[in-house]
Amino acid sequence: MPDIRKNHPDSSLPAECEQPIPIARPCYDEAEETAVAAVLRSGWVGQGPQVAVFETVFAEYVGSGHAVAVSSGTSALHLALLAAGIKPGDAVIMPSFTFVATANAIEYIGARPVLADINPTTFNIDPDSVTTALNNLNPDERSSVKAIIPVSLFGRCAPMGKIRALAGQYGWKIIEDAACGLGASHHGISAGREAQMACFSFHPRKVICTGEGGMVTTDDSRVAESVRTLRNHAASVSGHDRHTGAGGSRLPDFEQLGYNYRMTDIQAAIGIEQMKKLPRFLTARREAAAVYYRLLESIPDIKAPVVPEGHIHAYQSYVCLYHPDEALSGRSIDTAVVEKLACRRNDLMDRLERAGIATRQGTHAVHTLAYYRDKYGFKPNDYPASLMADRLSLALPLYCGITPADQERVVAALQDDK
Ligand SMILES: Cc1ncc(COP(=O)(O)O)c(C=O)c1O
Repeated sequence: MPDIRKNHPDSSLPAECEQPIPIARPCYDEAEETAVAAVLRSGWVGQGPQVAVFETVFAEYVGSGHAVAVSSGTSALHLALLAAGIKPGDAVIMPSFTFVATANAIEYIGARPVLADINPTTFNIDPDSVTTALNNLNPDERSSVKAIIPVSLFGRCAPMGKIRALAGQYGWKIIEDAACGLGASHHGISAGREAQMACFSFHPRKVICTGEGGMVTTDDSRVAESVRTLRNHAASVSGHDRHTGAGGSRLPDFEQLGYNYRMTDIQAAIGIEQMKKLPRFLTARREAAAVYYRLLESIPDIKAPVVPEGHIHAYQSYVCLYHPDEALSGRSIDTAVVEKLACRRNDLMDRLERAGIATRQGTHAVHTLAYYRDKYGFKPNDYPASLMADRLSLALPLYCGITPADQERVVAALQDDK
């Protein structure tokens, strides 16, 4: 195993300590190196033929009519919302417990995120809370809701059946945030397949990694074309087509405001190789998850991730809950207890860090983040399950190449919780 101590941001360990265990780690070998070298030698490193191949491979895997590669999961969400026709002043429903990018993409447009709470067992949006959020809006606000973003968080599919029913009832577009969803499915349906658009991420903590990168998938050719245009400054001709076709010396027209959200051929070449390995990556993640499930049986207060019946979890992250039963009084969540437990969880995470083991909270509750709290006047208890997930979630190291011995070290350190 290479010595990752040198470059690892989580590590300030003396050399005699055990190897640090990072939270995540991309998995590359000679295949990616060779593919990148070929792109560098080709003379075309920007968006070009490798991006087109990556898109084809990705669409085939997800089973979508189209896949359009972009620079990140965040830019995928931004362009999907634009392609869905979301305008300033519109409102978009989303769960509070998700990475801030979901909300930021809505804000970029001048639209407003309407938050719903989550099911604390699955960390995904709670359809009943969507109805509550809607009932809390006045009639004008209610009619401004144009879309919903269910998030398939940590590699587990969002409850798409109920979300589709609500979206159908109110005429909303569904844009799935599948940033963490690659490889997940429920009842045989892959993440991303039940929304009009789905947005994936290839950030280093995701199942496949292109450094940075994202993808929009859709069956709608007009939506795909809109995303293709908007990612390239809304130019009427792509750079590669100008380079390879006739009349390339003349600048194209720009009929609308676009963005530079292009993926490079260097990233796409990595993505193509990563897609070839995806089945292997998913097997490795599931095997590592199985080891954690077994080891965590010895710590009943740390609840392992739940896999609802019919779901296949991709384990983009392995996110547990710290002592959730103590925070529940009847069916409601005691947020004062949650805050006390959060201090203990944070102490535990600090102790693991000192032992060279990286952990993270799963993600954050958007309504508690300063920008959103101050802009919309959210209170911590507005979304209690999201607050609990923010304060008590605990992601354990999981990546291809983590060994059962590493995992035993992680769980032994958790057992030392005082
Ligand atoms: C749920 C979720 N949405 C969106 C994003 C944004 O993806 P990216 O980092 O590729 O912009 C992430 C990435 O961390 C995420 O976890």
